[in-house]
Amino acid sequence: MNRGWITPVQFAAFEASQTDAHRLFSGADGWVERLAQDALISHKTPAALDGMRDELSGWGAANAWNPRRIFGKLLPRQNEDRDPPVLVGGDATLPLTGDVRENGVRYCLDFAAGYSAGLFLDQRTNRAFLRNAAPARLLNTFAYTCSFSVVAALAGAATVSIDLSRKSLERGKANFLLNGLDANAGHRFLADDVLEVLPRLARRGEKFDAIVLDPPTFSRGNKGRRWQVGQHLEDLVLAAMELAAPSARVLISTNCATIQHGDLERVARFALKFHRRAGDLHREAQPPDFRPGHGARTLWMSLRG
Ligand SMILES: C[S@@+](CC[C@H](N)C(=O)[O-])C[C@H]1O[C@@H](n2cnc3c(N)ncnc32)[C@H](O)[C@@H]1O
Repeated sequence: MNRGWITPVQFAAFEASQTDAHRLFSGADGWVERLAQDALISHKTPAALDGMRDELSGWGAANAWNPRRIFGKLLPRQNEDRDPPVLVGGDATLPLTGDVRENGVRYCLDFAAGYSAGLFLDQRTNRAFLRNAAPARLLNTFAYTCSFSVVAALAGAATVSIDLSRKSLERGKANFLLNGLDANAGHRFLADDVLEVLPRLARRGEKFDAIVLDPPTFSRGNKGRRWQVGQHLEDLVLAAMELAAPSARVLISTNCATIQHGDLERVARFALKFHRRAGDLHREAQPPDFRPGHGARTLWMSLRG
């Protein structure tokens, strides 16, 4: 069996921590995720899909876990070519929606919603860190389906989730409900451009004890405004720092292949200096099911005063 598969001990540890959303395999031509009873194979080529499918059946037999369905998703060269996963094995009449658990927290999935089904697994250790930090007020920018807001709310936070996509925020509200949280009690969901909302919150004097900055690599904001993380990340961090309470934790995260950890550190140090704030920088350990070089580059800034 290829070395990129998780071990039986790792698989048992996920079961024990009530986590059924994790990678099973990571390789050069793709990876395999377990999403509750289903498997999702992200692949660069049809041959890679076939290879991982074959290995999955061997791994499943050895670990007494066999997926109910297998979805395949092509990893495109450019974002414009991103398509939703397609069913490549199993019962086509089963619903395309469902839910997964991560450390006992539940999240809705929808295989038909687009390229991503609803939860980014590489942020697992950052969600755990945020929940443990138990901020009183969270600002979750580029919130998508609000997974960071859910864990903060479970720890008692009032949350503000911002995303251009009203649909994603509706899915975020469903995630609140799924975890017994009242999305209308102390939580705000703003379907708007982060770059326009941040200065508005700052003018109102709002402050947050934790801020999540996990922007896409490219996007078009309000009035067609072009966002490119390589060009605009520094401005985003500077704007977010205006909203950071004393002792706030700020997560900076990117999937952009050309931005490395050292670049995030440089941006964070510049922002601390610019705002004359003191703070410590640290990285949460990469989730054990992710190989070095896979998953987002992320950095926490913990402010001191
Ligand atoms: C990489 S996903 C964020 C993932 C999220 N942090 C999580 O862990 O689930 C990027 C999100 O940013 C949103 N987005 C892109 N440009 C935006 C903008 N200018 N303002 C607000 N949201 C934006 C997209 O709709 C998408 O949901």
